[in-house]
Amino acid sequence: MDKNTELINKANEIIEKNRDIAEGDYYRLKYHIMPPTGLLNDPNGFIHYKGEYHLFYQFHPFDTTHGLKYWAHMKSKDLVHWEELPIALAPSKWYETHGCYSGSAVKNDGILTLVYTGNVKDEEGNRETYQCLATTEDGIQFSKYDNNPVMYNQPEGYTRHFRDPKVWKKDGLWYMVIGTQTVKEEGRVLLFKSKDLKDWELVGEVAGSNLNDLGYLGYMWECPDLFSLNGKDVLIFSPQGIEAKGDLYNNIYQSGYFVGKLDYSTGKMEHGEFIEIDRGFEFYAPQTTLDEKGRRIMFAWMGLPEREEHPTVEHKWIHAMTLPRVLELKGSKLYQKPVEELKLLRKDQVTYKDILIDNEEIILQKISGDVLELLVEFELEDANEFGIKLRCSEDGKEETVLYYDRNNEKFIFDRNKSGKGYKGIRRCKIPNTNILKLHIFMDRSSLEVFINDGEEVFTGRIYPSKESLGIKLFAKEGKVKIRNISKWNL
Ligand code: FRU
Repeated sequence: MDKNTELINKANEIIEKNRDIAEGDYYRLKYHIMPPTGLLNDPNGFIHYKGEYHLFYQFHPFDTTHGLKYWAHMKSKDLVHWEELPIALAPSKWYETHGCYSGSAVKNDGILTLVYTGNVKDEEGNRETYQCLATTEDGIQFSKYDNNPVMYNQPEGYTRHFRDPKVWKKDGLWYMVIGTQTVKEEGRVLLFKSKDLKDWELVGEVAGSNLNDLGYLGYMWECPDLFSLNGKDVLIFSPQGIEAKGDLYNNIYQSGYFVGKLDYSTGKMEHGEFIEIDRGFEFYAPQTTLDEKGRRIMFAWMGLPEREEHPTVEHKWIHAMTLPRVLELKGSKLYQKPVEELKLLRKDQVTYKDILIDNEEIILQKISGDVLELLVEFELEDANEFGIKLRCSEDGKEETVLYYDRNNEKFIFDRNKSGKGYKGIRRCKIPNTNILKLHIFMDRSSLEVFINDGEEVFTGRIYPSKESLGIKLFAKEGKVKIRNISKWNL
C-alpha cells in the first residue's frame, strides 16, 4: 500500500471509530461546517467550481490538538447544505511530513488546482516549508504534482515561517501572496508572480510590520488573502503578536484588513489602517473567493490557535467554520452579510412589532430556542442600555448578553454567564443612530451577531446547558422600542 493510502486509511479508521461519540454531543452545530471528529482549523481552497462550492479545511483527524494536518473536503451547491467528501490531501511526501498546511484553490485551464504549504520539521524542531500543487480530474481524488515543491527556495531575509499561499489570476498572470516574518521577527506579506503556477518570481513586499509608515504590527502574519472589491484592493491577514489595546485585539491572535491600492509592478500596497474583521471571541484565518455570481464570499475558522479547552473535546471534536459571509466595501470599511442562501433554512416564522420596553425585562412567548435566526430592530428612546439575553436558564444563572451602551456608543457581547467554556466580554464602537439592527444566528454552541447590516460582526462559541433556552429583551434607565422582532427556527 502506498503511503498516501495508508495515511488516509488511518485517518478514516479513527474518524469512523469516533464519529458517533462526536455526533452524541449536544454542542454539535446544526448548520455549520464541523470536523466529523478531531480538530478543524483554517478554511482552505475555497472555490466555486463548475457550479459547486468546494471548501477544504485544515484537519487533524486523530485528536483535538494541532497535530499532523490533512486537508478535509466539503462541497455544496448552495453554501448551506454541505456534503462531506473523502480527505483531499494527506501528508505523505517528503516535502510535507509534518502537515499539508494552508493554501488556496484556482481553476487552471479548467482544472481545479490546490496550492498549499508542505510543512517539515526535523528532529531538532527546525522547520522547512515548501509550496506545492495538487490537481483533480473528478473533483474528489487529488494527485500531487510530480515536480513538487514548486517553491523550494525562499527569498533571503525571512524565516521558515513562510506559508499559506493564496493565488489568483490577473491579466494573464498568476499572483500569489505568502505570509511570513523577517529574520527580525516582523510580520510580512510577499507577492510572487508566475506564468504557469510552477515557476514563481518574487515581486516584492506587499505590507509588513515596521514597514513603510506602519509601526509594529506583530511578529508573524498568517493566511494572507488579497483581492479587489469595488475598485479598491483589500489585504486580509492574521497577524500574531499584537498587544491588546482597550477594546481592540483582545483575542490571542487577530484577523484584520487593509484597504488601498496594490502596485502589481513593485508588489507594494498603499494602504490605510489595520481594522479587525470580527469583534467577537473566536475568529481566525479567513479566506475568500469570488463566486460565479460575482460575490466575494468569506469563510473563517470559528476558533483560535492555542485555545483548545472547549467542552466539545470530551466528545472528540473541536472548532467549526463561521457561516459564509458576503463582503462589501463601503468607503474603506468592509461590511459582512450572511449569504442570502441561508434563508433556505428558515422555518416557523414568528414576528412581533412595536413593543415598548420601559426599564424592564420582557419575555415574548414564542421566542426561545437554541438553533435559530433572529432579526431585531430597536428604535432608540431614552434607555441608557438595552439589548437581548439569549440562552437564559430559568433560575437566572445562565445568560448570554448582547447589548448597546448608548452613553459610550458601544455594542457589547458578554459571555461571562454563558455556561461552560471560555468567558469574557468583547466591545466595539457603534455610532449612535436612531435604529440598531441585530441579525443573530444561534446554533447550539455558536453565536454570530451582524450589526446594522454588517457594519460590525461578533462571533463566539458559548456552551450553556441544554435547558437554557430562554430569550429576554431589556431596557435599563429608560425606554427602547422594538420596531420588529422576527424569529425562525433553522
Ligand atoms: C493558521 C495556521 C497557518 C498554517 C496552518 C496549520 O491557523 O497556523 O499559518 O498553515 O494554520 O494548520
